[in-house]
Amino acid sequence: MEKKPIVLSGIRSTGHLHLGNYYGALRNFVEMQNDYDCRYFIADYHSLTTQPDPSVLNPNVRSILAEYLAAGMDPDKCTVYVQSDVPETCEYYTLLNMHAYLGELEKTVSFKDKARKQPNNVNAGLLTYPVLMAADILQHKANFVPVGKDQLQHLEMARNFAQRINHFYKADFMVLPRPYEAKGEPIKIPGLDGSGKMGKSEGNCIYINDDDQTVIKKFKKAVTDMTPTEPNSEMNEPIKNLFYFLKLVSAPEVYDQFLAAWNDCSIRYGDLKMQIATDVLKVTAPIRERYNEIYADADYLNKVREQGAEKARVEVRKNLDELRQYMGFRKF
Ligand code: TYM
Repeated sequence: MEKKPIVLSGIRSTGHLHLGNYYGALRNFVEMQNDYDCRYFIADYHSLTTQPDPSVLNPNVRSILAEYLAAGMDPDKCTVYVQSDVPETCEYYTLLNMHAYLGELEKTVSFKDKARKQPNNVNAGLLTYPVLMAADILQHKANFVPVGKDQLQHLEMARNFAQRINHFYKADFMVLPRPYEAKGEPIKIPGLDGSGKMGKSEGNCIYINDDDQTVIKKFKKAVTDMTPTEPNSEMNEPIKNLFYFLKLVSAPEVYDQFLAAWNDCSIRYGDLKMQIATDVLKVTAPIRERYNEIYADADYLNKVREQGAEKARVEVRKNLDELRQYMGFRKF
């Protein structure tokens, strides 16, 4: 049988998934599982970089696993696991760290961002966050990594580490991972507060678990501006963001209709927001309904988790042993 390309991706376990996670990642996870050898995990080690209360760690992992499954991820088609259930990752990470340099780590946008946001907790885990992420990817020899635009720099670093290691050991055993977006361009879901991305630490999220009224309320509060007075005016950022959403979630003819209304100055922002909220809910409401049932079923979740870890560990062990060999760890 022909070997399918390997896909690896993950989401940090910091609470419920939001629309950025869904459109930037999860949607692709589900679409890709039929055609690729997919391995998806929940990044609970990564979540520790912000030092969460230990009591939330476990429920957060559980809710993301339930959200993965509720969105249509099938554990019989792909490998679904929790990062800390595959402790080989830590060894791989240690080995990779020896080929990662302070200068490049300090320059990472996400590190600079976090160091600014949590100046009293600039821990070593934050600095080496991209190395742990590279370990996640390279230990699977992943060909593709479906991620949103915000993770592209980390992925580029994983490629650099792989290339560097191949060069250093004069071999080509490391696979260079590439980003993947099923619909073409990498996605960046904006916040509805006018600028920037939707993100947990930005506090501007619409969660896939939000009920109908909450989603509608959040969209209603989205920042807009005066309605245009000149035909074919340039859009400012908050309006561009709403149109970006509209293009992503609504039918092309609906998009065209609102664009025409913008261009002839007849647009009503209330209608635009309601349209987006309604089309978002078409996607999220069925996931939310399945979620509650799955979340309650601890036996099922534990089974999925164990089965996933078992499968992942076999693959990862093989690749870790190979790296160990190249680095010189051998029997006498
Ligand atoms: P995380 O948990 O912040 O986000 C998970 C996924 O959601 C995407 N995403 C977005 N996409 C578009 N617009 C947004 N506003 C938005 N917000 C989040 C992210 O791009 C990501 O695909 N470091 C990773 C988790 C991770 C990982 C990995 C991913 C750890 N190891 C290995 C891939 C491969 C992270 O924090 O993503």
